[in-house]
Amino acid sequence: MTHSLPWRDLGEASQRLRDSFSPEKPDDGVNFGRRAKKAPWPATLPLARKPLKPRTMTDTLANPAAKPAPKDWILGISAYVPGKSATDDGRPLIKLSANENPLGTGAAARAALVAATADLATYPDPGATSLREAIGAVHGLDPERIIYGTGSDELLHIAASAYAGPGDEILYVRYGFAVYDIAARRVGATPVIAPDKDYATDVDALLAAVTDKTRVVFLANPNNPTGTMTSREEIARLHAGLRPDILFVLDQAYAEYLDAEEDDGGLELARTASNIFVTRTFSKIHGLAAERIGWGYASADVIDILHRIRAPFNVTTAGQAAAVAAINDAEWVAFSRTHTARWREWLAGEVASLSNHGLRVVPSKTNFLLILFDGKLTAEAAMKGLWDEGYATRWLPGQGLPNGLRITIGTKAQTRAVAAKLRAMAEAA
Ligand SMILES: Cc1ncc(COP(=O)(O)O)c(C=O)c1O
Repeated sequence: MTHSLPWRDLGEASQRLRDSFSPEKPDDGVNFGRRAKKAPWPATLPLARKPLKPRTMTDTLANPAAKPAPKDWILGISAYVPGKSATDDGRPLIKLSANENPLGTGAAARAALVAATADLATYPDPGATSLREAIGAVHGLDPERIIYGTGSDELLHIAASAYAGPGDEILYVRYGFAVYDIAARRVGATPVIAPDKDYATDVDALLAAVTDKTRVVFLANPNNPTGTMTSREEIARLHAGLRPDILFVLDQAYAEYLDAEEDDGGLELARTASNIFVTRTFSKIHGLAAERIGWGYASADVIDILHRIRAPFNVTTAGQAAAVAAINDAEWVAFSRTHTARWREWLAGEVASLSNHGLRVVPSKTNFLLILFDGKLTAEAAMKGLWDEGYATRWLPGQGLPNGLRITIGTKAQTRAVAAKLRAMAEAA
């Protein structure tokens, strides 16, 4: 006989628990913890006569309703999908899927990183003083107005957290960087997407999408995953068209790949404007993606606010040391930039020569190309074909580009191999 208890119909796991209260099985030690004491069990139930066992998975399954409830807006987030480094069945691949520096890390940064691992027991400099001073010296910026992050990702998130919340809107372009959607939703703000103009940023469309609820505008320049560039004049026009209470986050993760005359003027605008936050990263041209270091520049007021919510000790000691060396290694930066521009243009030319097979390249100012496949060879098939050559690239259906494959510019040999495989696949399709 089983006691009649107020169980809801919770399926098999619940049945197992109900069975455990059968007088024929007087005490199986199931632990109901504090709740059990308060529950209106019949006094005869043999609860906890033996020492209590720790809670088990079965307890949780027995009452699936009893769990922390995530915020509705968090449920709307699809987790960030990182670039692949292996095939679906686990074969390792050369990574041309995350826009890292295929040439690696400069010798100076590497040596500084190794040297900085001598003391691992002490927290890093919480103010990243040497790093801010080095950045300030290279870019002619006030170090007091520089903030640092665990990658520029952290900075994008704290910008959204500080200035937007439920009921507010965060605006960015269609085919914007995937983290903007997550940053907006994470704080309960509504993501608003402005249409593109042939994959590039349309400043008029962005301005037209601003409402009185807009609090933050994110724009990557050059943009990922398209590689497109918005000119200095257009950035100034966009900024001039935004109300002063809207924070304009200008994400310059790929700025170091530009020639000096292509600079979009963001850092200059941020010197005097109170509502621009420019972000940069050490993950791309500086070859320090493994260390997770980004930085940002804005008015003293904005920086003060952002410091309040960044994680304490958010950049490691070795990361800070490596970044100081990297930003002072102008030679490595120039070498990487020259290499990238050369092989990017070469690969773009190769793809252009496959236009009769439906391949098209979006003009890029970054260390990657977005290739659109509108012929017999699909982007998915091209990605899988490149796996067979040993290369991971980034297929983008999740970002609304099922016909798009983003390919990081690799070494000379890698870029040639990718081009040859693309040609072979396009011609065979
Ligand atoms: C446009 C853009 N912004 C920001 C980031 C984030 O870089 P990290 O967090 O490594 O600094 C990336 C990385 O791919 C990016 O493409």
